[in-house]
Order: sequence, then C-alpha cells, then structure tokens
Amino acid sequence: MQVTMTVNGSEVTEDVEPRMLLVHFLRDQLRLTGTHWGCDTSNCGTCVVLVDGEPVKSCTMLAAMAAGHEVRTVEGLERDGELDPVQQGFMECHGLQCGFCTPGMMMTARALLDSTPHPDEQAIREAISGQICRCTGYTTIVRSVQWAAAHEEGAAREPEPERGTGPTAAQPETSSPPRVSEHAGGAS
Ligand code: FES
Ligand code: FES
Repeated sequence: MQVTMTVNGSEVTEDVEPRMLLVHFLRDQLRLTGTHWGCDTSNCGTCVVLVDGEPVKSCTMLAAMAAGHEVRTVEGLERDGELDPVQQGFMECHGLQCGFCTPGMMMTARALLDSTPHPDEQAIREAISGQICRCTGYTTIVRSVQWAAAHEEGAAREPEPERGTGPTAAQPETSSPPRVSEHAGGAS
C-alpha cells in the first residue's frame, strides 16, 4: 500500500507493507536511523518520535497509521544548522552516556518543553518514565532537560531560579506534562 506523511518537514510517499511498524519504516525505508529500536515490547521508549507533536512509541504504531500525519524524528530536532536546546542540554550536562536511549529521551523532552516550558524535576521524571536508560544515569538526563528549559528562546524573560534550589525549582509548572501515547503502546 502507498502512504504519504510529513517527516521532519518534508512530504514523503512510499510503498509499505500494511504490517510495517513506523520504527522500521523510519529506520529501514527512510534510513532515519537516529530513531532506535530497543525492545519490540513497548517497554524501552528509545523508539519515541513525535506524531503531530505528541510523543509516540514508534514500535507500537503502524507506518500506515501515520499516513496524513506529521512525524518528527531526532534528525528533525536541529533547525537551520542550530542544535535544539534539548540537544545542547544533553551535550552540556552529559545527558548521553552510552547514548542508546538518547533519541527517545530527547524527543520526549522536546514534547515536554513544548507543553510545559518550565517543568519541575518531578514533571521531567514523570515525562521520561516511559524511557529506560540502562546506564541508570537519570540525574544527568534530568539536568539536561532543565538546562534546555533554561535556555529555550524566551527563557531569559522568566524569573531566575533561586540559588541552591536547582535550575527550575523556583519556576511554576504551567500544565501537565505529556505522556507517551497510550494508544500507541503507552508509557511503561
Ligand atoms: S523499541 Fe522499545 S518501546 Fe519501542
Ligand atoms: S545513555 Fe545509555 S541507555 Fe541511556
């Protein structure tokens, strides 16, 4: 069957097997191998991409289900040669250790900051609760997301965090953090 969708801002039309998963479509057919495939059981979260801005585990969604929708992968985070603040945050704060979980972490973080520009630590931990980092280094990942929140465009207009209370502790949470789409497998 033929599917058409927007991937990282470009429209693509491809022939796919009806049973092909979105993760395989992205990796094997479009060669967007930044999206990782870690478990095949909807547990690890490393395959998370954004579909219409919502984080979705692409191993639990058929490519055909993405037809007509906007898909954004980790390759689409960088804009005009500029790294996204989330990518910069992971660099600055050592958020990528072995790096395998990093694409999913970053896409989930991007969705979180899009809906909740100043999440507190608990909101960040809840948002990434569907992602497994086997290095168990969640502290630096949380710090990376906090760094990104503090360096987003317009962040300077927000109140500075109080000394000694962490980068975002003094900042209000503006809405509930996104959860990885339940219809597509859900957060574990
Ligand atoms: S590959 Fe593990 S949740 Fe998708
Ligand atoms: S950085 Fe190694 S699994 Fe996350």
